[in-house]
Amino acid sequence: MEKNAILSIQHVTKIYETIGEGVKALDDVSFELYEGELLAIMGTSGSGKSTLLHLLGAMDRPTSGKVLLQGHFDENMFKEPQATFYRRENIGFIFQSFNLLKDLSVEENIALPLILKGTLDELIDEKVDQMLEMIGLERWRTHRPVELSGGQQQRVAIGRALITSPPIVLADELTGNLDFNTSTDILKMLIQLKEQLNQSIIMVTHDPSVATYADRVLFFHDGKIVDEYTCSKTAEDMEMILKKFKLILETVA
Ligand SMILES: Nc1ncnc2c1ncn2[C@@H]1O[C@H](COP(=O)(O)OP(=O)(O)O)[C@@H](O)[C@H]1O
Ligand SMILES: [Mg+2]
Repeated sequence: MEKNAILSIQHVTKIYETIGEGVKALDDVSFELYEGELLAIMGTSGSGKSTLLHLLGAMDRPTSGKVLLQGHFDENMFKEPQATFYRRENIGFIFQSFNLLKDLSVEENIALPLILKGTLDELIDEKVDQMLEMIGLERWRTHRPVELSGGQQQRVAIGRALITSPPIVLADELTGNLDFNTSTDILKMLIQLKEQLNQSIIMVTHDPSVATYADRVLFFHDGKIVDEYTCSKTAEDMEMILKKFKLILETVA
């Protein structure tokens, strides 16, 4: 199978300027995200995962290094107004805390990225209908987030992130607020949508059982990629991911 890099991160370093020395949150990080790939970023607390997602979402800028989207480098992507445009056109976000707009209905929340992009009304209706069916929430379309369970809210958030078929979806601990069974449902749904839509996704997690759903796992420590694992989609994955993660934890201790 031909692998196309949708995103290429090249020698990215991020130093937070603080009083004193400054904190190197990312240290010469390079990797690629392939089209249709679900890539998991695993690492201990403070290893640079959130910093990485912030940079890839153009919510902050790297100190040095490049981010190429579909082979294209835009040196202004981290400056406004280009950063806002980049986010709107290219990124879908899924958060741990769902982040739905409480005064909007399920269908209005899902439609929002399409509206922001100036999509025609007829097309919005058609796409939202299709998405509601894919996430299994047709019956809930006019309800407000507060009337839904956590799992249902995260389904809406996933629908909203994927509705525009963005080149990249970024997910930060997307099952962090859900119980085990609901997490399993959500991850299975995400995989199904990923396959159907050929969606490229980067998900940050500290949970080995979540990482087993990925196609590939990058292990971060101290702002660097210290290990990598390609999932075989067998029981071996859990064993290998746990083993690699434990090795990293042991070097910290
Ligand atoms: N805004 C900031 N200012 C200074 N240091 C920060 C800031 N954000 C994160 N850091 C530091 O950068 C490192 C990486 O943090 P982060 O990316 O949040 O890690 P993770 O998400 O893996 O827990 C940590 O040492 C953290 O304290
Ligand atoms: Mg974090």
